[in-house]
Amino acid sequence: MKLDPKAIRYLTSEDFRVLAGVEAGSRNHEVVPTPLISQLSGLRGGSGVHRSISNLAKINLIAKVKNAKYDGYRLTYGGLDYLAMNAHQKQKVVYSVGNQVGVGKESDIIVVAHSSGEQRILKIHRLGRISFRTVKTNRDYLRHRSTGSWMYMSRLAAMKEFAFMKALRENGFSVPEPIAQNRHTIVMSLIDAFPLRQISKVPNPQGLYSELMDMILELARFGLIHGDFNEFNLLIKEEVDPEAREKYTPQTKLDDVADADIRLVPVLIDFPQMVSIDHMNAEMYFDRDVNCVKRYFQRKFHFVSDVPGPTFAQAKKNFLKNPGKRLDVEVEASGFSKKMARELEKYMQEVGVDGDAGEREDDEEGDEEEEETDGEEEDEEESGSESGEPSEDHVSGQNDQDVDESSRRLEGLQVSEGSGQ
Ligand SMILES: Nc1ncnc2c1ncn2[C@@H]1O[C@H](COP(=O)(O)OP(=O)(O)OP(=O)(O)O)[C@@H](O)[C@H]1O
Ligand SMILES: [Mg+2]
Repeated sequence: MKLDPKAIRYLTSEDFRVLAGVEAGSRNHEVVPTPLISQLSGLRGGSGVHRSISNLAKINLIAKVKNAKYDGYRLTYGGLDYLAMNAHQKQKVVYSVGNQVGVGKESDIIVVAHSSGEQRILKIHRLGRISFRTVKTNRDYLRHRSTGSWMYMSRLAAMKEFAFMKALRENGFSVPEPIAQNRHTIVMSLIDAFPLRQISKVPNPQGLYSELMDMILELARFGLIHGDFNEFNLLIKEEVDPEAREKYTPQTKLDDVADADIRLVPVLIDFPQMVSIDHMNAEMYFDRDVNCVKRYFQRKFHFVSDVPGPTFAQAKKNFLKNPGKRLDVEVEASGFSKKMARELEKYMQEVGVDGDAGEREDDEEGDEEEEETDGEEEDEEESGSESGEPSEDHVSGQNDQDVDESSRRLEGLQVSEGSGQ
Protein backbone atom coordinates (compact mmCIF):
# COMPACT_ATOMS: atom_id res chain seq x y z
CA MET A 1 0.00 0.00 0.00
CA LYS A 2 1.50 3.23 -1.10
CA LEU A 3 0.09 6.68 -1.23
CA ASP A 4 -0.51 7.44 -4.86
CA PRO A 5 -1.75 10.99 -4.98
CA LYS A 6 -2.01 11.30 -8.74
CA ALA A 7 -5.71 10.58 -9.05
CA ILE A 8 -6.64 13.09 -6.39
CA ARG A 9 -6.74 15.87 -8.96
CA TYR A 10 -9.37 14.14 -11.00
CA LEU A 11 -11.83 13.55 -8.23
CA THR A 12 -14.89 15.75 -8.21
CA SER A 13 -16.57 17.23 -5.19
CA GLU A 14 -19.27 14.58 -5.60
CA ASP A 15 -16.69 11.82 -5.57
CA PHE A 16 -15.37 13.14 -2.29
CA ARG A 17 -18.82 13.34 -0.76
CA VAL A 18 -19.45 9.75 -1.74
CA LEU A 19 -16.07 8.66 -0.39
CA ALA A 20 -16.82 10.37 2.89
CA GLY A 21 -20.23 8.68 2.81
CA VAL A 22 -18.59 5.26 2.58
CA GLU A 23 -16.34 6.19 5.48
CA ALA A 24 -19.27 7.37 7.60
CA GLY A 25 -21.21 4.21 6.76
CA SER A 26 -18.27 2.10 7.89
CA ARG A 27 -18.92 3.22 11.46
CA ASN A 28 -21.56 0.61 11.86
CA HIS A 29 -21.42 -1.45 8.68
CA GLU A 30 -18.63 -3.73 7.58
CA VAL A 31 -20.10 -3.55 4.12
CA VAL A 32 -21.87 -0.29 3.36
CA PRO A 33 -24.95 -0.82 1.18
CA THR A 34 -25.31 1.46 -1.81
CA PRO A 35 -28.54 3.20 -0.67
CA LEU A 36 -26.83 4.10 2.59
CA ILE A 37 -23.84 5.54 0.72
CA SER A 38 -26.27 7.60 -1.29
CA GLN A 39 -28.00 8.86 1.82
CA LEU A 40 -24.80 9.63 3.74
CA SER A 41 -23.21 11.45 0.86
CA GLY A 42 -26.11 13.89 0.95
CA LEU A 43 -26.39 13.92 -2.81
CA ARG A 44 -29.68 13.95 -4.54
CA GLY A 45 -30.22 11.95 -7.69
CA GLY A 46 -28.95 8.39 -7.91
CA SER A 47 -27.03 8.51 -11.16
CA GLY A 48 -24.37 10.91 -9.85
CA VAL A 49 -23.82 8.72 -6.82
CA HIS A 50 -23.48 5.64 -8.99
CA ARG A 51 -21.04 7.37 -11.26
CA SER A 52 -18.93 8.41 -8.29
CA ILE A 53 -19.06 4.95 -6.79
CA SER A 54 -17.79 3.49 -10.01
CA ASN A 55 -15.03 6.16 -10.29
CA LEU A 56 -13.91 5.49 -6.75
CA ALA A 57 -13.97 1.73 -7.20
CA LYS A 58 -11.96 2.01 -10.41
CA ILE A 59 -9.08 3.69 -8.62
CA ASN A 60 -9.42 1.40 -5.60
CA LEU A 61 -10.50 3.97 -3.06
CA ILE A 62 -13.46 1.77 -2.25
CA ALA A 63 -13.89 -1.92 -2.94
CA LYS A 64 -16.99 -3.84 -3.83
CA VAL A 65 -17.88 -6.58 -1.38
CA LYS A 66 -20.46 -9.22 -1.92
CA ASN A 67 -22.14 -10.02 1.30
CA ALA A 68 -24.52 -12.88 2.07
CA LYS A 69 -27.37 -10.42 2.48
CA TYR A 70 -26.52 -7.55 0.19
CA ASP A 71 -23.75 -6.09 -1.94
CA GLY A 72 -21.98 -2.98 -0.92
CA TYR A 73 -18.65 -1.26 -0.56
CA ARG A 74 -15.94 -0.81 1.96
CA LEU A 75 -13.35 1.90 2.26
CA THR A 76 -9.80 0.84 1.31
CA TYR A 77 -6.61 2.18 2.79
CA GLY A 78 -6.25 4.25 -0.35
CA GLY A 79 -9.66 5.80 0.27
CA LEU A 80 -8.71 6.62 3.83
CA ASP A 81 -5.44 8.16 2.58
CA TYR A 82 -7.35 10.40 0.21
CA LEU A 83 -9.78 11.55 2.88
CA ALA A 84 -6.89 12.41 5.18
CA MET A 85 -4.95 14.16 2.41
CA ASN A 86 -8.04 16.10 1.48
CA ALA A 87 -8.45 17.29 5.06
CA HIS A 88 -4.78 18.29 5.34
CA GLN A 89 -5.07 20.14 2.11
CA LYS A 90 -8.24 21.95 3.19
CA GLN A 91 -6.59 22.98 6.42
CA LYS A 92 -3.65 24.28 4.42
CA VAL A 93 -1.27 21.95 6.14
CA VAL A 94 -0.19 20.23 2.95
CA TYR A 95 0.00 21.77 -0.48
CA SER A 96 1.99 19.22 -2.48
CA VAL A 97 3.12 15.66 -2.12
CA GLY A 98 6.70 14.69 -2.82
CA ASN A 99 8.67 11.51 -2.50
CA GLN A 100 8.31 8.66 -0.14
CA VAL A 101 11.41 8.66 2.02
CA GLY A 102 10.72 5.69 4.18
CA VAL A 103 8.70 2.56 4.38
CA GLY A 104 8.71 1.58 8.00
CA LYS A 105 7.25 -1.63 9.20
CA GLU A 106 4.20 0.14 10.41
CA SER A 107 4.13 3.33 8.41
CA ASP A 108 4.90 5.20 5.23
CA ILE A 109 6.96 8.37 5.48
CA ILE A 110 6.46 10.94 2.76
CA VAL A 111 7.92 14.38 2.19
CA VAL A 112 5.19 16.95 1.57
CA ALA A 113 5.31 20.71 1.22
CA HIS A 114 3.37 23.64 2.56
CA SER A 115 2.34 26.37 0.12
CA SER A 116 5.27 28.44 1.41
CA GLY A 117 7.56 25.74 0.05
CA GLU A 118 8.50 24.51 3.52
CA GLN A 119 9.02 20.78 3.49
CA ARG A 120 7.25 18.63 6.01
CA ILE A 121 6.87 14.96 6.83
CA LEU A 122 3.63 13.06 6.42
CA LYS A 123 3.57 9.83 8.39
CA ILE A 124 0.83 7.42 7.40
CA HIS A 125 0.28 4.74 9.99
CA ARG A 126 -0.33 1.28 8.61
CA LEU A 127 -0.61 -0.84 11.64
CA GLY A 128 -0.54 -4.54 11.14
CA ARG A 129 0.65 -4.56 7.57
CA ILE A 130 3.65 -6.76 8.25
CA SER A 131 1.78 -8.90 10.67
CA PHE A 132 -0.97 -9.54 8.19
CA ARG A 133 1.50 -10.75 5.69
CA THR A 134 3.51 -13.00 7.90
CA VAL A 135 1.43 -14.34 10.70
CA LYS A 136 -1.50 -16.39 9.77
CA THR A 137 -2.86 -16.70 13.27
CA ASN A 138 -3.05 -12.94 13.53
CA ARG A 139 -4.99 -12.79 10.38
CA ASP A 140 -7.46 -15.30 11.68
CA TYR A 141 -7.69 -13.47 14.91
CA LEU A 142 -8.38 -10.17 13.23
CA ARG A 143 -10.88 -11.60 10.86
CA HIS A 144 -13.15 -12.15 13.79
CA ARG A 145 -12.75 -8.74 15.29
CA SER A 146 -14.19 -6.03 13.22
CA THR A 147 -13.58 -3.28 15.73
CA GLY A 148 -9.96 -4.38 15.89
CA SER A 149 -9.45 -3.39 12.32
CA TRP A 150 -6.12 -1.94 11.42
CA MET A 151 -7.71 1.22 10.11
CA TYR A 152 -9.02 2.06 13.51
CA MET A 153 -5.80 0.99 15.16
CA SER A 154 -3.73 3.01 12.71
CA ARG A 155 -5.79 5.97 13.64
CA LEU A 156 -5.23 5.36 17.32
CA ALA A 157 -1.50 5.10 16.63
CA ALA A 158 -1.57 8.46 14.83
CA MET A 159 -3.55 10.09 17.65
CA LYS A 160 -1.18 8.71 20.24
CA GLU A 161 1.94 9.69 18.36
CA PHE A 162 0.65 13.21 17.81
CA ALA A 163 -0.37 13.68 21.44
CA PHE A 164 3.01 12.53 22.74
CA MET A 165 4.99 14.53 20.21
CA LYS A 166 3.06 17.62 21.21
CA ALA A 167 3.53 17.10 24.93
CA LEU A 168 7.24 16.37 24.49
CA ARG A 169 7.80 19.32 22.22
CA GLU A 170 6.02 21.69 24.59
CA ASN A 171 8.23 20.51 27.40
CA GLY A 172 11.51 21.12 25.70
CA PHE A 173 12.34 17.67 24.38
CA SER A 174 14.20 17.37 21.11
CA VAL A 175 11.47 15.97 18.85
CA PRO A 176 9.95 17.14 15.54
CA GLU A 177 7.28 19.82 15.66
CA PRO A 178 3.86 18.19 15.41
CA ILE A 179 1.75 20.13 12.90
CA ALA A 180 -1.48 18.23 12.31
CA GLN A 181 -3.20 14.91 12.72
CA ASN A 182 -6.02 13.55 10.63
CA ARG A 183 -7.34 10.00 10.72
CA HIS A 184 -4.34 7.64 10.46
CA THR A 185 -1.85 10.34 9.48
CA ILE A 186 0.25 13.02 11.09
CA VAL A 187 2.16 15.92 9.63
CA MET A 188 5.33 17.08 11.40
CA SER A 189 8.35 19.18 10.70
CA LEU A 190 11.07 17.63 8.59
CA ILE A 191 14.30 17.02 10.44
CA ASP A 192 17.22 17.51 8.13
CA ALA A 193 19.30 14.69 9.53
CA PHE A 194 20.19 11.03 9.21
CA PRO A 195 19.19 8.30 11.62
CA LEU A 196 22.01 7.28 13.96
CA ARG A 197 21.99 3.98 12.13
CA GLN A 198 23.48 5.67 9.06
CA ILE A 199 26.19 7.57 10.87
CA SER A 200 29.46 5.75 10.55
CA LYS A 201 31.68 8.01 12.64
CA VAL A 202 30.98 10.03 15.74
CA PRO A 203 33.82 12.29 16.89
CA ASN A 204 32.92 11.96 20.55
CA PRO A 205 30.91 8.79 21.23
CA GLN A 206 31.11 9.37 24.97
CA GLY A 207 29.38 12.74 24.66
CA LEU A 208 26.58 11.45 22.44
CA TYR A 209 26.13 8.37 24.61
CA SER A 210 25.72 10.48 27.74
CA GLU A 211 23.29 12.73 25.98
CA LEU A 212 21.13 9.77 24.96
CA MET A 213 21.17 8.30 28.47
CA ASP A 214 20.25 11.71 29.83
CA MET A 215 17.37 11.83 27.39
CA ILE A 216 16.08 8.44 28.59
CA LEU A 217 16.32 9.64 32.20
CA GLU A 218 14.69 12.96 31.40
CA LEU A 219 11.79 11.18 29.71
CA ALA A 220 11.39 9.07 32.85
CA ARG A 221 11.42 12.19 34.99
CA PHE A 222 8.41 13.34 32.96
CA GLY A 223 6.72 9.99 33.53
CA LEU A 224 7.56 8.37 30.18
CA ILE A 225 9.48 5.54 28.59
CA HIS A 226 9.94 5.62 24.82
CA GLY A 227 9.92 1.86 24.36
CA ASP A 228 11.69 1.83 21.00
CA PHE A 229 14.71 4.01 21.71
CA ASN A 230 17.15 2.86 19.08
CA GLU A 231 19.40 3.85 16.19
CA PHE A 232 16.47 4.04 13.75
CA ASN A 233 14.41 6.37 15.89
CA LEU A 234 17.15 8.86 16.71
CA LEU A 235 17.92 11.37 14.00
CA ILE A 236 21.28 13.03 14.44
CA LYS A 237 21.46 16.67 13.44
CA GLU A 238 24.79 18.38 12.91
CA GLU A 239 25.17 21.90 14.27
CA VAL A 240 28.04 24.27 14.89
CA ASP A 241 29.07 23.89 18.51
CA PRO A 242 27.81 27.00 20.37
CA GLU A 243 31.27 27.42 21.88
CA ALA A 244 32.85 27.61 18.45
CA ARG A 245 30.21 29.80 16.89
CA GLU A 246 32.27 32.97 16.85
CA LYS A 247 34.73 31.30 14.49
CA TYR A 248 32.09 31.16 11.76
CA THR A 249 29.49 33.37 10.16
CA PRO A 250 25.82 32.36 10.06
CA GLN A 251 26.32 31.75 6.33
CA THR A 252 29.12 29.22 6.77
CA LYS A 253 28.18 25.86 5.29
CA LEU A 254 28.47 22.85 7.59
CA ASP A 255 30.92 21.24 5.16
CA ASP A 256 33.30 24.11 5.86
CA VAL A 257 33.13 23.75 9.62
CA ALA A 258 35.98 21.85 11.29
CA ASP A 259 34.95 18.42 12.62
CA ALA A 260 35.94 19.43 16.12
CA ASP A 261 33.49 22.34 16.00
CA ILE A 262 30.48 20.26 15.03
CA ARG A 263 28.04 19.20 17.68
CA LEU A 264 25.66 16.28 17.16
CA VAL A 265 22.12 16.91 18.30
CA PRO A 266 19.86 13.87 18.66
CA VAL A 267 16.19 14.24 17.72
CA LEU A 268 13.86 11.51 18.94
CA ILE A 269 11.00 10.23 16.73
CA ASP A 270 8.41 7.42 16.57
CA PHE A 271 6.10 7.47 19.58
CA PRO A 272 3.19 5.05 19.12
CA GLN A 273 4.61 2.57 21.61
CA MET A 274 5.45 4.99 24.44
CA VAL A 275 4.44 3.92 27.92
CA SER A 276 3.99 5.51 31.30
CA ILE A 277 6.56 4.99 34.02
CA ASP A 278 3.70 3.36 35.91
CA HIS A 279 3.16 0.72 33.23
CA MET A 280 3.34 -2.81 34.61
CA ASN A 281 6.29 -3.60 32.31
CA ALA A 282 7.95 -0.21 32.70
CA GLU A 283 11.20 -1.65 33.99
CA MET A 284 11.51 -4.05 31.07
CA TYR A 285 10.93 -1.25 28.53
CA PHE A 286 13.29 1.08 30.33
CA ASP A 287 16.08 -1.51 30.47
CA ARG A 288 15.50 -2.41 26.85
CA ASP A 289 15.88 1.23 25.78
CA VAL A 290 19.08 1.61 27.80
CA ASN A 291 20.55 -1.66 26.56
CA CYS A 292 19.74 -0.82 22.98
CA VAL A 293 21.93 2.25 23.14
CA LYS A 294 24.67 0.40 25.04
CA ARG A 295 24.75 -2.46 22.57
CA TYR A 296 24.72 -0.18 19.56
CA PHE A 297 27.53 2.01 20.82
CA GLN A 298 29.63 -1.00 21.62
CA ARG A 299 29.05 -2.66 18.28
CA LYS A 300 29.28 0.36 16.05
CA PHE A 301 31.66 2.75 17.81
CA HIS A 302 33.45 0.25 20.09
CA PHE A 303 32.49 2.42 23.00
CA VAL A 304 31.71 0.99 26.42
CA SER A 305 30.86 3.39 29.21
CA ASP A 306 32.65 3.14 32.56
CA VAL A 307 29.46 4.22 34.24
CA PRO A 308 27.00 1.40 34.81
CA GLY A 309 23.27 1.89 34.34
CA PRO A 310 21.21 3.95 34.36
CA THR A 311 18.86 1.56 36.09
CA PHE A 312 15.11 1.78 36.38
CA ALA A 313 15.50 2.19 40.14
CA GLN A 314 17.62 5.30 39.58
CA ALA A 315 15.15 6.67 37.07
CA LYS A 316 12.26 6.07 39.45
CA LYS A 317 14.09 7.71 42.33
CA ASN A 318 14.84 10.70 40.19
CA PHE A 319 11.23 10.84 39.11
CA LEU A 320 9.95 10.75 42.67
CA LYS A 321 12.45 13.23 44.03
CA ASN A 322 12.34 15.78 41.29
CA PRO A 323 9.41 15.08 38.98
CA GLY A 324 8.78 16.95 35.76
CA LYS A 325 5.25 17.48 34.57
CA ARG A 326 3.44 14.13 34.27
CA LEU A 327 3.24 13.90 30.51
CA ASP A 328 1.68 10.44 30.64
CA VAL A 329 -1.20 12.01 32.54
CA GLU A 330 -1.29 15.10 30.32
CA VAL A 331 -1.61 13.02 27.15
CA GLU A 332 -4.49 11.11 28.65
CA ALA A 333 -6.23 14.35 29.47
CA SER A 334 -5.68 15.60 25.93
CA GLY A 335 -8.03 12.98 24.55
CA PHE A 336 -5.96 9.88 24.07
CA SER A 337 -7.72 7.98 26.81
CA LYS A 338 -6.59 5.03 28.90
CA LYS A 339 -9.10 2.89 27.05
CA MET A 340 -7.60 3.85 23.71
CA ALA A 341 -4.11 3.22 25.03
CA ARG A 342 -5.14 -0.23 26.22
CA GLU A 343 -6.83 -1.09 22.92
CA LEU A 344 -3.80 -0.02 20.92
CA GLU A 345 -1.35 -1.79 23.17
CA LYS A 346 -3.33 -5.01 23.09
CA TYR A 347 -3.54 -4.90 19.33
CA MET A 348 0.14 -4.13 18.92
CA GLN A 349 1.04 -7.07 21.13
CA GLU A 350 -1.36 -9.42 19.46
CA VAL A 351 -0.21 -8.69 15.94
CA GLY A 352 3.40 -8.62 17.00
CA VAL A 353 4.18 -4.94 16.54
CA ASP A 354 7.39 -4.42 18.40
CA GLY A 355 8.94 -1.35 16.89
CA ASP A 356 12.31 -1.97 15.34
CA ALA A 357 13.34 -4.28 18.17
CA GLY A 358 12.52 -7.56 16.52
CA GLU A 359 14.50 -6.74 13.40
CA ARG A 360 17.55 -5.66 15.28
CA GLU A 361 18.49 -8.79 17.13
CA ASP A 362 20.18 -10.74 14.36
CA ASP A 363 20.94 -7.80 12.17
CA GLU A 364 24.60 -7.49 12.96
CA GLU A 365 26.68 -5.27 10.75
CA GLY A 366 24.59 -4.87 7.62
CA ASP A 367 24.00 -1.21 7.02
CA GLU A 368 21.14 -1.56 4.66
CA GLU A 369 17.77 -0.94 6.16
CA GLU A 370 15.83 -2.84 3.61
CA GLU A 371 12.28 -3.30 4.68
CA GLU A 372 10.28 -5.88 2.90
CA THR A 373 7.46 -4.19 1.17
CA ASP A 374 6.89 -5.88 -2.12
CA GLY A 375 3.70 -7.64 -2.70
CA GLU A 376 2.09 -6.78 0.54
CA GLU A 377 -0.66 -4.67 -0.88
CA GLU A 378 -2.81 -7.46 -2.12
CA ASP A 379 -2.51 -9.35 1.06
CA GLU A 380 -3.51 -6.40 3.09
CA GLU A 381 -6.44 -5.56 0.89
CA GLU A 382 -7.48 -9.12 0.75
CA SER A 383 -7.51 -9.58 4.48
CA GLY A 384 -9.14 -6.19 4.81
CA SER A 385 -12.24 -7.25 2.99
CA GLU A 386 -12.73 -9.94 5.52
CA SER A 387 -11.75 -8.31 8.72
CA GLY A 388 -13.96 -5.33 8.07
CA GLU A 389 -13.43 -1.66 8.58
CA PRO A 390 -13.85 0.35 11.74
CA SER A 391 -17.34 0.07 12.98
CA GLU A 392 -17.33 1.84 16.30
CA ASP A 393 -18.87 5.23 16.62
CA HIS A 394 -15.70 7.06 17.37
CA VAL A 395 -13.91 5.55 14.43
CA SER A 396 -15.19 8.13 12.07
CA GLY A 397 -16.67 10.41 14.67
CA GLN A 398 -14.52 13.39 13.89
CA ASN A 399 -15.30 13.23 10.24
CA ASP A 400 -18.76 14.70 10.02
CA GLN A 401 -17.22 18.01 9.30
CA ASP A 402 -14.95 16.50 6.72
CA VAL A 403 -17.89 15.25 4.74
CA ASP A 404 -18.49 18.84 3.82
CA GLU A 405 -14.85 19.69 3.65
CA SER A 406 -14.25 16.83 1.30
CA SER A 407 -16.95 17.97 -0.98
CA ARG A 408 -14.89 20.62 -2.63
CA ARG A 409 -12.45 19.68 -5.28
CA LEU A 410 -8.79 19.31 -4.52
CA GLU A 411 -7.79 21.80 -7.12
CA GLY A 412 -4.72 22.99 -5.34
CA LEU A 413 -3.14 19.69 -4.62
CA GLN A 414 -0.15 19.39 -6.85
CA VAL A 415 1.70 16.20 -7.45
CA SER A 416 5.38 16.59 -7.91
CA GLU A 417 7.45 14.55 -10.32
CA GLY A 418 8.41 11.21 -9.00
CA SER A 419 5.72 11.00 -6.37
CA GLY A 420 4.18 7.68 -5.62
CA GLN A 421 7.37 5.85 -6.50
N1 LIG B 1 10.25 14.22 11.03
C1 LIG B 1 11.10 13.51 10.28
N2 LIG B 1 12.09 14.14 9.60
C2 LIG B 1 12.94 13.43 8.84
N3 LIG B 1 12.90 12.09 8.67
C3 LIG B 1 11.94 11.41 9.31
C4 LIG B 1 10.98 12.07 10.14
N4 LIG B 1 10.15 11.14 10.64
C5 LIG B 1 10.56 9.96 10.14
N5 LIG B 1 11.63 10.09 9.34
C6 LIG B 1 12.35 9.02 8.61
O1 LIG B 1 11.51 7.90 8.43
C7 LIG B 1 11.98 6.76 9.15
C8 LIG B 1 10.84 6.00 9.79
O2 LIG B 1 10.09 6.83 10.66
P1 LIG B 1 9.42 6.28 12.01
O3 LIG B 1 10.46 5.66 12.86
O4 LIG B 1 8.62 7.38 12.59
O5 LIG B 1 8.40 5.18 11.50
P2 LIG B 1 8.52 3.58 11.50
O6 LIG B 1 9.95 3.20 11.36
O7 LIG B 1 7.52 3.09 10.58
O8 LIG B 1 8.14 3.03 12.82
P3 LIG B 1 8.62 1.60 13.32
O9 LIG B 1 9.78 1.93 14.21
O10 LIG B 1 7.44 1.05 13.98
O11 LIG B 1 9.08 0.78 12.15
C9 LIG B 1 12.98 7.32 10.15
O12 LIG B 1 13.97 6.40 10.48
C10 LIG B 1 13.54 8.54 9.43
O13 LIG B 1 14.56 8.16 8.55
MG1 LIG C 1 11.00 3.83 13.57
